[in-house]
Amino acid sequence: MPSLQEQIKEYEQEINAFAPANAAELEEYRIRFLGTKGIVKQVFGEMKTVPAEQRKEAGQLLNGLKQLAEAKYDTYKDMQAGATAKGPVADYTLPGTPIATGTRHPLRVIENKITSLFEKIGFSVATGPEIEDDWHNFTSLNMPQDHPARDMQDTFYVATNPDWVLRTHTSSTQARVMETQPLPIRVICPGRVYRNETISARAHCFFHQCEGLYIDKNVSFADLKQTLYYFVTEMFGENTKVRFRPSYFPFTEPSAEMDISCTVCGGSGCNLCKHSGWVEILGCGMVHPNMLRNFGIDPEVYTGFAFGMGVERITQIKYQVNDLRLYSQNDVRFLRQFQGID
Ligand code: PHE
Repeated sequence: MPSLQEQIKEYEQEINAFAPANAAELEEYRIRFLGTKGIVKQVFGEMKTVPAEQRKEAGQLLNGLKQLAEAKYDTYKDMQAGATAKGPVADYTLPGTPIATGTRHPLRVIENKITSLFEKIGFSVATGPEIEDDWHNFTSLNMPQDHPARDMQDTFYVATNPDWVLRTHTSSTQARVMETQPLPIRVICPGRVYRNETISARAHCFFHQCEGLYIDKNVSFADLKQTLYYFVTEMFGENTKVRFRPSYFPFTEPSAEMDISCTVCGGSGCNLCKHSGWVEILGCGMVHPNMLRNFGIDPEVYTGFAFGMGVERITQIKYQVNDLRLYSQNDVRFLRQFQGID
């Protein structure tokens, strides 16, 4: 005859191993262990046979058995009649584990917006390498070795190879497109560019550009203006005015800079427009004949326009971000302010 202790151990093993396949099995279990004539009651009944000095210990063991039997039953008691689930039923009232959602970076949002506006009018997106050779970043763009315009862009050179630079503009991608793609060409080139500037609220050693290029027969300055006007009204709203000022870029002739009427004050004067009512947003012009010739395109037959804008600048105007450093500091408090914009 096994002792009471041994018996309890055996029952405990049985309970631990028990996993009902359905509600009927669970009911069988309940009757066997917890019913009015069940094992737990029965074992409690045997307490009177235990010698007085062992009662305390036996009582503890018995309570343990009772709790184990009840806990097992509780685990499965929500089991639907006829259900065949194995294992414990999920507790749907428990709070879920929160999933932190990210936000799109404002620069990416604006870059996507710019490229998709140009895609709508037939431009396709082209990208190129950030480490460029001298030919694609400078020389082919009508900036030979000692051209003074090279000083306009404080260039980072790659120490191991004097022919390599971190591209100073995405015009280098336009050069690559002219080299490889058949005419007519209509591309928009987004990407990161680098210039050796001291980091401050108004300058950074890297930023982002979107540059466009259109080369075909009979492309005129009027086409350039119309295209940019379309972009401005879509991006900043119908009432935005534009103006062109003559400027200089080695790879365009004639060249211009384009301003838009200040979207913050509407022209009456504020910090963004420095009280002038206008904010500069991009450089543009007709592709220089020398650049066309560099890629074997006959300037007597083909003409083209190009333009380039800073993504940070457009984002700053759209969202009044007044410190360029915020874009790359990864401060979630800054980024969260753009939650939900697409
Ligand atoms: N590449 C010029 C810049 O980085 C912008 C530009 C592009 C100007 C195309 C004219 C035409 O400043």
